[in-house]
Amino acid sequence: MSDLAVGDVVGPLTVGRVAHGGHWVARHEGRVVFVRHALEGEVVRVRITEVAKRFARGDAVEVRVASAHRVEPPCPVAGACGGCDLQHVDLAHQRELKRQVVAEQLTRLAGVGWDGTVEDCGPGTGLGWRTRVRYVSDGTSWGLRGHRSHAVVAVPPGGCRIARPGLAEPGAEVAAGAAGEQLLGVESSDGPVWADPAGDTVVRQRFAGRDHAVHAGGFWQVHPRAVDVLTAAVTEGLEPRSGETALDLYCGVGVFAGVLAARGVEVIGVEGSRDAVALASGNVPEARFVAGSVDRVLRRLPDAVDLIVLDPPRVGAGRAVVAGILSRRPRAVAYVACDPAALARDIAFAGEQGYRAASVRAFDLFPQTHHVECVALLVPGA
Ligand SMILES: C[S@@+](CC[C@H](N)C(=O)[O-])C[C@H]1O[C@@H](n2cnc3c(N)ncnc32)[C@H](O)[C@@H]1O
Repeated sequence: MSDLAVGDVVGPLTVGRVAHGGHWVARHEGRVVFVRHALEGEVVRVRITEVAKRFARGDAVEVRVASAHRVEPPCPVAGACGGCDLQHVDLAHQRELKRQVVAEQLTRLAGVGWDGTVEDCGPGTGLGWRTRVRYVSDGTSWGLRGHRSHAVVAVPPGGCRIARPGLAEPGAEVAAGAAGEQLLGVESSDGPVWADPAGDTVVRQRFAGRDHAVHAGGFWQVHPRAVDVLTAAVTEGLEPRSGETALDLYCGVGVFAGVLAARGVEVIGVEGSRDAVALASGNVPEARFVAGSVDRVLRRLPDAVDLIVLDPPRVGAGRAVVAGILSRRPRAVAYVACDPAALARDIAFAGEQGYRAASVRAFDLFPQTHHVECVALLVPGA
């Protein structure tokens, strides 16, 4: 095996299939190299950015043979900034790549065949959609974080291309702080808000006739259509009936709890952030909310329930939580997932408890990036 070092430029390499995480598989003298900013079938030269024992990572820095799906990135810093990793790919093919990744994860980790598509959630340009943008100071001005690094990439002229227009760059009124200090731009129902992510600024998000108070630095979906799209997928899947009981696990400020409560369902929400629980209780007074880690709080919850919404962080819910919820024999579980690998692992755990994925939908709620959101419906049965 060759001696590779960070900074080496190797190749030309022929690029293979897309892999989970926004890179493509290539080989250099027998070693797997995960290459960013490439496309299957291309021939590229690669600058090595990380060397591990069994593989390396790198960025395509010169394209000798280009894919028909390659386009000019709309943003001049797309390669350096950590925010976007698919700007060099046409939008329709971005969704095709995400489809391949979701299908591969479901097959490999859950043994589930999937012939779905990644649903287009707009906007048609794939730009100007992000309602939360994190800027970081280099000591003199606000910039964007580099990929897997602490480097600060200068905001390009014209601002961040995927941010909502009012958030594309901090205005002159928001002075840059000390190096490393962060600033969040948040689109609220009252307009753009600039806030310290560690501060206690609360913004209003109006959705489905209900005001949701959420901390600027707390969790809220970043695509403007995400709440509509995901709550519709959850309710279409669960078909909640008035009088049923439900758990909204990893509930944040109570978005799914609110939608279920509006249909006459008796909901208990569980969330690890005490601040989010305090806000959820005000947002959805009809529901009950409990602060704490889902794995621990579960033991104190009713031992039978009709419906469950599960929306864990990237790592997924894990075997113990999946077993804990399914022991309550819910009629249906809607699993909202931002990582298809974690979703697939949890679907496999659900199979051990006698539940199967009746459907999996995938949504392009993060255009120009490799990220994809899924909603799986789990029901009893083999
Ligand atoms: C993907 S967000 C979903 C939030 C909410 N369902 C929404 O759509 O707005 C995941 C949430 O899980 C919370 N969380 C993370 N780990 C947790 C745990 N072990 N127990 C309970 N909540 C947790 C986070 O604070 C975050 O609010």
